[in-house]
Amino acid sequence: RKILSVVGARPQFIKAFPVSSALRRHHDEVLVHTGQHYDESLSGVFFDELDIPKPDYNLGVGSGSHAAQTAEMMVRLDEVIADEDPDIVLVYGDTNSTLAAALVASKRDPLLAHVEAGLRSHNWEMPEEVNRVLTDHCSDLLFAPSESAALALEREGIHDGVYVPGDVQYDAILQVRNTARERSTILEDLGLRDDEYILATVHRAANTDDWSRLEAIVTELAEAGRPVVFPVHPRTENALREAGLWSLVADDENILLVDPVGYLDFVRLLDGAERVATDSGGVQKEAFYLDTRCVTLRDETEWVETVDSGWNTLVGADPLAIRTALQSTEPLPEKPSLYGDGRAADRIVEALSSFDHE
Ligand code: UD1
Ligand code: UDP
Repeated sequence: RKILSVVGARPQFIKAFPVSSALRRHHDEVLVHTGQHYDESLSGVFFDELDIPKPDYNLGVGSGSHAAQTAEMMVRLDEVIADEDPDIVLVYGDTNSTLAAALVASKRDPLLAHVEAGLRSHNWEMPEEVNRVLTDHCSDLLFAPSESAALALEREGIHDGVYVPGDVQYDAILQVRNTARERSTILEDLGLRDDEYILATVHRAANTDDWSRLEAIVTELAEAGRPVVFPVHPRTENALREAGLWSLVADDENILLVDPVGYLDFVRLLDGAERVATDSGGVQKEAFYLDTRCVTLRDETEWVETVDSGWNTLVGADPLAIRTALQSTEPLPEKPSLYGDGRAADRIVEALSSFDHE
């Protein structure tokens, strides 16, 4: 079968890495990069170090408003889908690249398959929630990472084509964890040792576009009393500068500001961190996979099992809640098995192979 996979933003390159490699053993894959992320540190580095095949198309869409970015992607993707005439269009996660491809594919012939279906924050203010709900409702094949995600689909009346293969990001972590330990020199480069630092990432619109939230978060990070490694997403750097908070972060002796790092370095940092503070979706579950305590700088999460199991604490941008969670020494409970067994990519490819077109 001919499968056209669409990626565009950092987490999608990582999700595509195990799936693409499994897919290419059985099918023809055409890889399309929308160009949503284009900096070397948000895009190129992942293709180089993870050996993801070079995209067959880069649509070069770049940054813009949600409408302009999504519309531009749709127009260009429509041409590629018309030319390539794939059997299946495969999309990942919840970005504007996901939604653009879903809308285009659902109005053309190919089947639409969605990896990471059924996740819900139930916060309709979040652009990603709009993207994922609409994508799920356009999809023919839905790959849910957990039973609770499959149940969310069921509740919305989506009964057909739902599979629960597990989480492809777990596959990815298992595939690189040891290599990251062997090859990454990031801890030595930063002069740090395991368990002596906090890792932090912030990029969610709710935090970068609300400067009082942003200020509360960086102030608490600066007060954490331990080194905080902070790989800064360009969106967050822009917001910190505009909000007049850049020097608070850049001049703080506890905060180690670095550019966004490649996956091997990030996995090494997360593996070695004493805990992580993040508003990322992916990092919450990667922390769980790597036995790292997670403090989530959001008011709700799609990865509810990580909170229910006691491995993740939701603190929003509340100063006291952040401070308490950054200092907590409460022992972590026994770790349940969530999100599959690290073979999600194989199961997805199996389903794509056996799904009956007619
Ligand atoms: C996007 C996704 C988000 C995902 C995140 C992963 C949407 C709506 N959001 O958010 O779900 O969690 O990617 O990191 O799709 N920029 C650069 N260089 C780049 C890319 C972006 O400087 O290579 C800057 C631009 O100023 C841009 C801003 O970052 O306007 C935001 O980029 P965009 O892709 O629109 O959204 P993200 O915040 O990255
Ligand atoms: N990541 C990375 N380098 C960084 C920060 C994150 O490689 O500097 C990886 C991380 O391991 C995870 C993914 O990027 O796999 C998460 O992406 P992000 O937080 O940007 O998006 P989200 O998951 O919130 O959509």
